[in-house]
Amino acid sequence: MQVPRHIAIIMDGNGRWARSRHRPRLEGHRAGLNAIRRVMTASDELGVEILSLYAFSTENWTRPRTEVTGLMRLFSQTLDREIAELHEKGVQVRITGRRDKLSSTLLRKIEKAESLTGGNQRRVLNLLINYGGRAEIVDAIRSLVRAGQDPETISEAEVASHLYNPDLPDPELVIRTAGEQRISNFLIWETAYAEFHVTERLWPDFEAADMKEAITAYSGRERKFGGLGVGST
Ligand code: FPP
Repeated sequence: MQVPRHIAIIMDGNGRWARSRHRPRLEGHRAGLNAIRRVMTASDELGVEILSLYAFSTENWTRPRTEVTGLMRLFSQTLDREIAELHEKGVQVRITGRRDKLSSTLLRKIEKAESLTGGNQRRVLNLLINYGGRAEIVDAIRSLVRAGQDPETISEAEVASHLYNPDLPDPELVIRTAGEQRISNFLIWETAYAEFHVTERLWPDFEAADMKEAITAYSGRERKFGGLGVGST
């Protein structure tokens, strides 16, 4: 089985999971956290090096205030509670997205997590918080302009080097749960050639077996990068 180095996941369906149990939406997000733990363990076993998880988009601020504050609190608490163990396991934790709207408490935890684990080389857990793919491209353009880049010399590689995580390889596989077939402003530059796997499973129900199913489906596909593929005449 060919295992991708980098898997990116759009974790969808927490709200539906909670609704089907007549529970508040936040309980779905808490259950989603357990799914993250399972996926981390599965990634370790399967040899996936980098996991990028869409935890909060630039559009998610329009959700009810209680849900937004609850999610922000969950991010903060989780960083606090899990960081020591992640560090012990050699995981480098990154938080990707615009930081301007995040609370000072959360920012402190993010900075602490990143400075503690920044030297870890074994695996990367990349959490996308207040992230938008278009915002990332806008930020890359701003940074190019600020650097006084000559427009004629701007190449794809040059743009890529101004994205949020220029040192990470692009994800080879994107998984979306809860049956939606949209990219939703997620890593739109980086996933240009990624394989897309959609599962009906709601995120809180996502298991190691679902991860294996996605990787098996990916393994069976021939990646063409816009060409004809190997063996074509
Ligand atoms: C999408 O489901 C899920 C989110 C917007 C939040 C994801 C957050 C977590 C899984 C918790 C992560 C915690 C850390 C520390 C990273 P939805 O609410 O849009 O579901 P719905 O479409 O069924 O309503």
